[in-house]
Amino acid sequence: MCFLPASRPLRCAVIGNPVAHSLSPQIHAAFAAEIGLELHYARLTATEASFARRVNDFFTGGGTGLNVTLPFKTLAFSLVAELPARLARTGAVNTLWYRDGSLHGENTDGIGLVRDLLHNLGWPLAGRRLLLLGAGGAARGVLEPLLAEGPAEVALANRTQAKAGALAATLPKATGARVRVLSQAELATAEPPDLIINTTSAGLQGGRPQLPASLVGPASHLYDLVYGAEPTGFQLWGRELGAAATADGLGMLVEQAAASFYIWHGRRVETAPVISRLRDRLRTLGTDP
Ligand code: ATR
Repeated sequence: MCFLPASRPLRCAVIGNPVAHSLSPQIHAAFAAEIGLELHYARLTATEASFARRVNDFFTGGGTGLNVTLPFKTLAFSLVAELPARLARTGAVNTLWYRDGSLHGENTDGIGLVRDLLHNLGWPLAGRRLLLLGAGGAARGVLEPLLAEGPAEVALANRTQAKAGALAATLPKATGARVRVLSQAELATAEPPDLIINTTSAGLQGGRPQLPASLVGPASHLYDLVYGAEPTGFQLWGRELGAAATADGLGMLVEQAAASFYIWHGRRVETAPVISRLRDRLRTLGTDP
């Protein structure tokens, strides 16, 4: 590959397929406006076969940064030559940039989730008992950043239990000591965790993972990585059972974008006004703005 330095005005983009629904252009435009940065942020589409070429063309043409969304996070990962071990274990990259002669990558999903939980929602993680639902790419991306915040334990549960076991097995020994995999039978007798995080894709089809009601107590907090105009099925389930609080993943979406923005432009931005405006917009326009 051959890359050239970034040109002005700065050009960034999100690449995915489909990508028309992506809120990233609005989010990055709002951040840029906040700090007076001249930024052009586009949507790019690709196929598996054309992805590497599209990325190459983007940076060769002077692009500053690319966000990568489904289904290309694994492919993006494979393009980055040198990755920290933490990132190598996630197998997925959602942020690309070119610096010092090579392509760099990061996965800001976990950073975004942790920031939303700690700073926006004020839900502590240190010393807490967490239950992570799902064992796909989304779970893989957030597991280690959650563990880095010092929870007492992270229980993993997945419809296909073997995949949760495989995910736990990727962790370094010291980190993995605070992780245990729960079977469906163990879930039924488990004490309600402090925080349940749903990383499954069940909500994308309007569903939710099937779970015992005994997992939700009056102090339970529930977080769904999925977001929409209305509370998700997982949130509604928690509310019906009397959970202390529930949240969807809109804040995480904005926070992962802010982390990408910082990598590319070296500037921190206020996320709360952007989350609030997007929330209003979702409510006005429905789930597919
Ligand atoms: P992603 O990258 O969004 O994590 P993925 O890698 O396809 O997508 O993983 C999807 C996750 O959601 C998996 O953990 C999947 O469970 P299985 O491993 O058993 O397939 C989970 N999932 C999807 N639909 C679900 C449903 N209806 N109920 C429970 N879990 C579901």
